[in-house]
Amino acid sequence: MTNTFGANWKLNPVTIDKAKDLLDSYANEGLSGLVDTEIIVFVPYIFISDLKRLIDEKGYTFRLGAQNVSEHECGAFSGQISAAMLASVGVTEFLIGHSERRGGYEEKVVHSQDIMIEKIRQSVNVIDEATIKAAKTEAIEYTNEMLGRKISTIVEYNKHQWERQEQNQNEKPLLLRPLTALYCIGETLEEKAEGKTLTVLEKQLEKGLAKISSDDLKYVIIAYEPRWAIGTGKSANPNDIKEAHLMIRSLTRSDIKILYGGSMKPDTASEIMAIKGVNGGLIGGASLNAQDFSKIVKYHSK
Ligand code: 13P
Repeated sequence: MTNTFGANWKLNPVTIDKAKDLLDSYANEGLSGLVDTEIIVFVPYIFISDLKRLIDEKGYTFRLGAQNVSEHECGAFSGQISAAMLASVGVTEFLIGHSERRGGYEEKVVHSQDIMIEKIRQSVNVIDEATIKAAKTEAIEYTNEMLGRKISTIVEYNKHQWERQEQNQNEKPLLLRPLTALYCIGETLEEKAEGKTLTVLEKQLEKGLAKISSDDLKYVIIAYEPRWAIGTGKSANPNDIKEAHLMIRSLTRSDIKILYGGSMKPDTASEIMAIKGVNGGLIGGASLNAQDFSKIVKYHSK
């Protein structure tokens, strides 16, 4: 299987000129045109069109990714951006459920607040620990289901486009390659300490992929990113990574692509990539430095 490395730029860099420079410096490091490795760059929405132009002008082989996508196709959803909109400006890959969205200001918090308010309305008593725990569980379930709907929009988009192309053989292809959902899963430090890692991952897969058939899993890549490992400089240990990847594969498809993410650095890449079942990495901090990112992608030439 081809290795895939995702560069998740998150809320970086601060200007479009710096974003262009960063992409050019990936190419200067020899990362464009690799034969056995795919590079996907998950950039801030606002930079997508300009970077697509740069990629086309210079003939770079980098693919463009979005860091989030709406669960809706269109309609009255201010501030949201749909899969079709992103595909129309050149995005082919979509991060879904990144931990910074699952765990910070993101989807879950909005809905956990709604759920908490509902609990307050239903209860005249002071909210106790058990109620809070129940509301949190409900919010997590809601999040996984919503992420499932986001994955479904990608799958449905592909099917709709293929159908159209089949019906209109003469029409210029709308999609040169199918869209791919990169579904991010991972446990918190608390869940890890309680020995719940595999249960949490199982739930995230079960709910998030509930509506996706085994055949349609070809449009899905899984990124295993332990939430406590992101941006902390601490990677999960090889045995835990191996165990998680094995379980993910057994619950999905034997040929599904699984990436590891969480403080992957030039000095840890070869050890992580040597773990059975790891097909690449999703890199945050180190992807902002072209040389570091290049050392990770070219881990075998170390
Ligand atoms: P770091 O590589 O900075 O830990 O981030 C990983 C990540 O969040 C990739 O999506």
